[in-house]
Amino acid sequence: MEIRNKTGDRIDPKTNRIGHPFLWKKEIDSTNEELKRLAVQGAVHGTVFCADRQTKGKGRRGRSWDSPSGENIYLSILLRPEMDPGQAPMLTLMCAVSAAQALETTTGTVCRIKWPNDLVWQNRKVCGILTEMSTGTEGIRYVIVGIGININRDFFPEEIASMAGSVQAGQGKMAIIEEFLSQFEKNYKLFEKEKTCRPFLKEYNQRLVNIGKQVQILSEGEKKIRISYGIDEGGALIVADEYGKKEKIISGEVSVRGLYGYV
Ligand code: BTN
Repeated sequence: MEIRNKTGDRIDPKTNRIGHPFLWKKEIDSTNEELKRLAVQGAVHGTVFCADRQTKGKGRRGRSWDSPSGENIYLSILLRPEMDPGQAPMLTLMCAVSAAQALETTTGTVCRIKWPNDLVWQNRKVCGILTEMSTGTEGIRYVIVGIGININRDFFPEEIASMAGSVQAGQGKMAIIEEFLSQFEKNYKLFEKEKTCRPFLKEYNQRLVNIGKQVQILSEGEKKIRISYGIDEGGALIVADEYGKKEKIISGEVSVRGLYGYV
């Protein structure tokens, strides 16, 4: 399927399932919400919904995701995976690797990952991922992986101005989307076979910010300082205390930051 945006750019996913169909609208409340509505109506595994602008973009932990029009990407993928609900959060890490690979291929610049799923470019957050799942007695009904990437953007609202950033890309967003869908499909095929992070572990950890360095772990008002060792096959962050005692940090309400701020 081929579609064009308002400037006539083509999108022609070089994939078999992810991005078929590829649906696009100028404006939507949230691409995740729209895809949820389509999922309930029977949309197929691989359906992608993309918008130029979101009026109610959603972030993690009930936050909003500022979504003005421009070159920014707001895109969600509907998956109907055959796996346990407990394995689905690894899809978020897989999406982060796929986005980093796509941005590196299209811009030629290194892109890093801040556990679990932020992409960091020149020490600023340029991309966020929100994964939402619907389950029933039969298991997973669907998973929606939504990704927002700031591209060639130079204005941010005050609340996020100190940590948000934007990728500088010469290629248009359609080229980035095509590359991202290809990387996502390749990684998904590997992931669905074994349902662990092993196939992309190296790709993830080599981009992880603060690996081998001290990080602050913030949870329920408490803060502890640990050394970060990277993720394991289950997607947990392995950290160690000053005596070398290791522990696993599971994503959720935990926030991991650098010693002096966001990174
Ligand atoms: C985060 O808080 O870091 C996650 C942000 C996720 C934003 C994307 S934009 C496309 C998709 N639709 C949404 O409403 N949110 C996600």
